[in-house]
Amino acid sequence: MSHVASPCAALPQVEGTRVLRRERRGSSLPVIVDSPSGAWFTKLHGASQGVAPLIAEVIVAELAEAIGLSVPPRVLVTLPAAVPSDDINDELRDLLDASAGLNLGFTVLEAARDLTAAEVPGVDLYVAARVLWLDTVVQNFDRSLRNPNLMMRRGTIWLIDHGAALPFHHDWSAVTDAHAVRPYDVTGHLFGWVAPLLDDTHAQLAPLLSREVLAGAVDMVPDRWLGHDPASRRADYVRYLSARLAALRGLI
Ligand SMILES: Nc1ncnc2c1ncn2[C@@H]1O[C@H](COP(=O)(O)OP(=O)(O)O)[C@@H](O)[C@H]1O
Ligand SMILES: [Mg+2]
Repeated sequence: MSHVASPCAALPQVEGTRVLRRERRGSSLPVIVDSPSGAWFTKLHGASQGVAPLIAEVIVAELAEAIGLSVPPRVLVTLPAAVPSDDINDELRDLLDASAGLNLGFTVLEAARDLTAAEVPGVDLYVAARVLWLDTVVQNFDRSLRNPNLMMRRGTIWLIDHGAALPFHHDWSAVTDAHAVRPYDVTGHLFGWVAPLLDDTHAQLAPLLSREVLAGAVDMVPDRWLGHDPASRRADYVRYLSARLAALRGLI
């Protein structure tokens, strides 16, 4: 019997044809890009921190979905050089010129809005605990009352903006075993109050992030963002995240 290998999973790729507008609420200058498959909320690789935030967005979104949380579906948006833009801001033009090639698009969450501080105490405890646990795993410090990075649509909470997660990857040369076992300070987290649930949450969720799941998440990052040796960089991410998960029970 012949064996047919299943094709490697990868993010779908769409061709960005035109920039429609900036998303004014964001600090990283996300843009709405038109394509033959419609509009995509797009984060650009030419932004100040380069591809690192996009890598974090891809990996964390996959991990979030693996533990049952909702993240807008992702695609790779290719932008041509000198992509036309309806927004003629100079800073944006420079950013677009620096962002030819692969960028990260998300489904536009129509009719969604940012979660408000007043809504936080009403969030389902188990959703809040999942989000806090995820942020503990990926060392995301960018989910505060002032800046929830959660959107709400018809009662569902959507996780957005994981560009600041996996902070260690900004300088791999400085990463040591000690990084993966760093405690996570829940004080500034908008769901810090569910920290007493973390122990049980860890017992329930850690088995869902097996090494295979971690590797599958990392596999969704395109080679082009991973430097001169993508395979060994992928292995670095999987090793780090495995070590972090293994250390977590002692940390929470
Ligand atoms: N997929 C999406 N669809 C619609 N609006 C979004 C989407 N993702 C983010 N937004 C909106 O854009 C704002 C900025 O996006 P975010 O990912 O937080 O970028 P930044 O890194 O610039 O903060 C969010 O606060 C939210 O209001
Ligand atoms: Mg944000």
